[in-house]
Order: sequence, then structure tokens, then C-alpha cells
Amino acid sequence: MRAFYPGSFDPITNGHLDIITRLAQTFDQVIVAIGYNPLKSGWLPVETRVELIQRTASETGLVNVTVTSFSGLAVAEAKAQDADILVKGVRGQTDLPTEMTQAILNRDMSSFETFFIPSAPAWANLSSSSVRELVAFGAPIDAYVPKAAAEVIGTLKQRG
Ligand code: PNS
Repeated sequence: MRAFYPGSFDPITNGHLDIITRLAQTFDQVIVAIGYNPLKSGWLPVETRVELIQRTASETGLVNVTVTSFSGLAVAEAKAQDADILVKGVRGQTDLPTEMTQAILNRDMSSFETFFIPSAPAWANLSSSSVRELVAFGAPIDAYVPKAAAEVIGTLKQRG
């Protein structure tokens, strides 16, 4: 089974890494897919987001994880990647309405089912936007993002 895990990953967090690790233990292949809007710059360039996840997967020994990016519909990319199912992490009740809407729309547009995986309690309150806010205020992020992400974001921040 090939699982397609879409998200913004701006940046990858330890919560994402926990989900990717568990997916890699569950499915034959995991495709981490960064969805982006070409008209919006985002926080990190999409190429950097790809690099951070690739380095993290490699440093964690996740050999069955590949990383890609897409700017169209998630289901179109999932089909292009020959995926079998979509997977989304759910941190708690507040994630569910949005995730349900997306899962139902995606099912309407395609044959793809969405499987939900509960995030680890340790990361249930962690988001990429919180990490971005910590960086904006110069606070350390090492406890919240994988090592490769902390290193690269630290370097980018120093450059300004
Ligand atoms: O990290 P996020 O915010 O949960 O990621 C959202 C993402 C990128 C997975 C979602 O916005 C998405 O799938 N965008 C692509 C456009 C699309 O397929 N829309 C239909 C579902 S609403």
C-alpha cells in the first residue's frame, strides 16, 4: 500500500515526524506531499520544505519515505504518484471539521479514501504556525522540530 500524506509542512514539526514514522511502519511506501499555492510565498520556500523533510527522513532511517510537492489538487497528485490512500494526522477535536470537509470533498472528486491517524499526545498542541511564531520572537525551537529543521531554520534566521 502506498500512503499519500499531504500538508503544508511550513515547517515540518516533531508532530509531523511522529506521524511520518508511524506511517512508514504501517505502509509499504509513504509519499509526503507538500501542497503549496504558487501565488503565495509561504514562510519557507517549498524547495526548503522538501529538503528539510528529505533530510529528516534520511537521518531517521525512514527508507520507504519519499517527498514531493504539488500546487494543484491533492487527489490529482495522489493519482499521479500511484497512491492507494490519503492519510491525515488529527491532533484533536478542533482539527476534525476541516479534515472531514477535505476528506469528503476528496472522496467526491476521486476514489481516494482518507485514513485519519491520531497524533501523539505529546504533540497534540504543536503546529507549524506556533513554530513560526517562536522563530519570529527569537525563541529556541529545538524541542519542537526535527534536528535538520532546527539547523536550517537557525541558519536562515541568522542570515535574516
Ligand atoms: O498542513 P495543512 O494545512 O493541513 O495542509 C492542507 C493541504 C495542503 C493538505 C490542503 O490544503 C490541500 O490538500 N490542498 C490542495 C488543494 C486541494 O486538494 N483541495 C481540495 C481539498 S479541500
